[in-house]
Amino acid sequence: MARVLTTVEAVRARFTALQQPVAFFDGPGGTQVPDSVIEAVADYYRSANANTGGAFETSRRTDALITTARVTAAEFLNASVDEVAFGANMTTLNFALTRAAARDWQTGDEIVCTRLDHDGNISPWLELAHDRGFVVRFADVDEQCRLDLDHLRSLLSERTRVVAFPWASNAVGTVTPVAEITALVHDAGALAWIDAVHYGPHGPIDVQAAGADVLVCSPYKFYGPHLGLAFGKASLLEAWRPYKVRPAADFPVASRYETGTLAHELLAGFVAAVEYLQDVGWDFVTEHEHELGQQFLEGLPEAWRLHGVPTMDGRVGTFAITHDTLTPQEASARLGERGFALWDGNYYAIEIMRRLGLEDGAVRVGIVHYNTADEVSRLLAALEQLAR
Ligand SMILES: Cc1ncc(COP(=O)(O)O)c(C=O)c1O
Repeated sequence: MARVLTTVEAVRARFTALQQPVAFFDGPGGTQVPDSVIEAVADYYRSANANTGGAFETSRRTDALITTARVTAAEFLNASVDEVAFGANMTTLNFALTRAAARDWQTGDEIVCTRLDHDGNISPWLELAHDRGFVVRFADVDEQCRLDLDHLRSLLSERTRVVAFPWASNAVGTVTPVAEITALVHDAGALAWIDAVHYGPHGPIDVQAAGADVLVCSPYKFYGPHLGLAFGKASLLEAWRPYKVRPAADFPVASRYETGTLAHELLAGFVAAVEYLQDVGWDFVTEHEHELGQQFLEGLPEAWRLHGVPTMDGRVGTFAITHDTLTPQEASARLGERGFALWDGNYYAIEIMRRLGLEDGAVRVGIVHYNTADEVSRLLAALEQLAR
């Protein structure tokens, strides 16, 4: 990647949204978008707004944009254009793809999910199991919220059809050893179904190196518009029978899984978001987030308890914390009044919250590359003050 932006100040200058007097630690719920993304969306409406396949200029521009978006998505994930599909969001794509994948499965077939998953990678399987008589098992975590690979291995059998797991937890920030997991899933003859939604803003995704059969992510978590993006191996997408209307195109293969008219303006924003990330470069993202995460972990006041990996190794800078006496809701409301945007609750990661016994969930601090050391210092000071 050609790196253009080399300081956090230069990064922030690209975002009008970051000029507000708010410290945004809510990235895991969706990041702010650079102005170039906003302009690309607006520009589509100004100059190319049409449906596809028409014999007129705006329709041709729309067709060209869709092709560019597919090529951009394929390059972003190290896949081919036959393997990338856009949708409303990850959850919608996941319901569609899971149903297509399981069309010829038998009663009693098994699915393994994990306690680290967001419900977007669990409920589609639970609903299928409900309808079709499949069995869903859950791989556990250890005391630091790392995936227990021995337990996962013990759940695999000849009945296992798929293992659904996250690349990173949107609640406690754990990063899973993706390639190691996909290898053991494939040894068991099952599909590796990866939720990369939370990992998306934190590092490069290479579906080949990861060994993914299916991988889902959401551009709105990595500086793009509200959109979902899925990868599926071409051989699988070709073999499955998609839920599609008859006149819709069959090629590129993955487009069979896109229902109805796409949000073309958001595809324009997606292309701009990937261009923005190329200007930043993953080295800056990973180094800067690592530094800020370290600062946060070292400075966390005593009255706060961290749930998850206590160092920056094996995690991203997403921290679930609870206070001795304040509920997460009380704490986040007070922090909100002081200009900090962050979440409380379970963020749909209900399995890990149950596993940790956190009925009210936790406060979630989400660090991304546009955050600053000053914002982290101010947050730590505010956490200290709340603690008194
Ligand atoms: C890890 C993870 N998976 C899935 C989802 C659902 O994504 P979407 O909102 O695109 O359906 C989220 C959203 O927060 C998430 O964090």
